[in-house]
Amino acid sequence: MKRTTLVLGACGQIGTELTLNLREKYGKDTVLATDIMEPSLIELKEGPFEILDVSDTNSLREICEKYNVNTVYHLVAMLSAKGEKFPMEAWDLNMRSLLNLLELAKGKVIEKIFWPSSIAVFGPTTPKQNTPQQTVMEPSTVYGISKLAGERWCEYYFNKYNIDVRSIRYPGLISWKSQPGGGTTDYAVEIYYKALEEGKYTSYISKYRTLPMMYIEDAVRATIELTNAPSENLKIRSSYNLAGMSFDPSTIGASIKNILPEFKLNFNPDYREEIAASWPESIDDSAARLDWGWTPKYDLKTMTEVMLKNLRTKLQLS
Ligand code: SER
Repeated sequence: MKRTTLVLGACGQIGTELTLNLREKYGKDTVLATDIMEPSLIELKEGPFEILDVSDTNSLREICEKYNVNTVYHLVAMLSAKGEKFPMEAWDLNMRSLLNLLELAKGKVIEKIFWPSSIAVFGPTTPKQNTPQQTVMEPSTVYGISKLAGERWCEYYFNKYNIDVRSIRYPGLISWKSQPGGGTTDYAVEIYYKALEEGKYTSYISKYRTLPMMYIEDAVRATIELTNAPSENLKIRSSYNLAGMSFDPSTIGASIKNILPEFKLNFNPDYREEIAASWPESIDDSAARLDWGWTPKYDLKTMTEVMLKNLRTKLQLS
């Protein structure tokens, strides 16, 4: 029986684009999309789709066996801002789902796992500029704590049981096909919607608060490139630093203004500003470049052009 690739959280921000991309590359039937809810994007139903709660160990195992799954992309998580409101739920969801998968790999039900980490593993005591791969890591959010613990588990399962697990510390991700939810960096997506719909936006992140960010197309490409890289090249089994671009709200605002001169940007920082303040401003991703040839394609200018063009069509604006 042929092997299937499984995407967990296929209706989410990364899951949507990753599923569509993998299906285009390898064929619709080779990628099983799953989520806890029915997809609103009809294209996700053009290949196999199952409703699945990743914390339900038995159902996860049954799906993996039924579809003869070899590689799993695990894209289910409660992000940083929502996690601060529901700390126990965030910890439970983020940890249990990863450990379930690592155990399935240990039991030889599946062969390979991609699991995302985040810049949230870093904290206020981490060097902010060009943050190294290995450095002080004292995250101050529940999301960050769960991702750091997850990284340690991944490396542990690799060293102890030879589990082929691969991971990236995603920066803030910007996309137009599906929206993020519950993250601190979501402002950099909302701003494009509001610019087109209302001509103005009030940022909950302060004017000059710089964060590492990346356009979704780069993030999906990085994810597939790392997952396909020869195992022996990968020196890091916790999680790779990954960089695309860095900007603050005033700079992304200016890039929108270049195309929409009337756009007005205001600031009203809330609790998410404190989370953002604890994260790096820029990331050193030389290990990813060296081990599996990573290079980003998008900068702020090209991303803004693509975002505004595609959102205009999506929102049916002239
Ligand atoms: N985008 C995530 C968040 O803001 C960080 O990985 O929570």
